[in-house]
Amino acid sequence: MNFSGKVVLVTGSTTGIGEACAKVFAQSGAAVMVCGRNEQRGLQVVAAIRAAGGHAEFAASDLRTTGASDRLVADTVARLGALHVLVNNAGILYTADAVETSDEQWLDTMAVNVNALFYMSRAAVRHMRQHGGGAIVNVASEWGLNGETNHVAYCASKGAVVQITRCMALDHARDRIRVNSVCPGEIHTRMVDEILAKKGGDPEQSLRELAAGIPMRRLASPAEVATCVQFLASEHASYVTGANLVVDGGNDATAGPYPG
Ligand SMILES: NC(=O)c1ccc[n+]([C@@H]2O[C@H](COP(=O)([O-])OP(=O)(O)OC[C@H]3O[C@@H](n4cnc5c(N)ncnc54)[C@H](OP(=O)(O)O)[C@@H]3O)[C@@H](O)[C@H]2O)c1
Repeated sequence: MNFSGKVVLVTGSTTGIGEACAKVFAQSGAAVMVCGRNEQRGLQVVAAIRAAGGHAEFAASDLRTTGASDRLVADTVARLGALHVLVNNAGILYTADAVETSDEQWLDTMAVNVNALFYMSRAAVRHMRQHGGGAIVNVASEWGLNGETNHVAYCASKGAVVQITRCMALDHARDRIRVNSVCPGEIHTRMVDEILAKKGGDPEQSLRELAAGIPMRRLASPAEVATCVQFLASEHASYVTGANLVVDGGNDATAGPYPG
């Protein structure tokens, strides 16, 4: 896929799926704005992209801060000259049922996974519709389509992302802005490692057990999500909007636990 001349902003690109997205877009010729709270990791991602011949900048940003989304979009346009693609990837997860979920955890989940994603999208649409359109790709989750035990705040937030995707796709189709999401299953990143660590026991054994329950019998790499994000942002998906693409090794195709 060719993104030469395009500017792509990826939230939460200091690590994991976001880092993989930043690298995949940069490899395809895009100028990429890397962002997140962790400046050290962000600058490492930028350095890796530049070392490979790509173009990237870093903006430190805590998306929970009032006005952060508007500033990030403005900063991207000021430093890279445009905004053609927004990837809303930043996300957090707390493992708890409703009784165990504190007010702070609920509000924090909504602040990052829902509010910031909405504010980023709104700021991007305001720019894109004045400049010929664009594409937004949200990183939702398979858990935005299905329920899961002990993750009520996260699942609720990702369900909201799925609905934001559909509604904004409808509202902005005539602005030439496509809005889609990917719904990843089990992707091997820090987020999954932290979930498994909370369960206790041998992390390698936990990973094997997790993989055994997936039809494809393995977790995905972040890059396998990034290429789907890139497809949805690309001209190859020029007639795709309002879609929630599952990237889950077959999980969503089953009606219950997949036989081990
Ligand atoms: N891994 C999976 O299996 C999986 C499955 C389905 C969906 N997802 C979704 O995929 C996305 C990426 O997850 P991941 O697995 O790559 O997780 P990760 O490795 O924990 O990365 C999360 C990213 O979000 C950023 N972030 C978190 N809070 C932020 C804040 N307040 N302001 C700005 N940036 C913030 C982090 O950057 P800083 O720490 O630098 O701020 C980091 O770059 C999330 O939306 C997640 O819900 C993941």
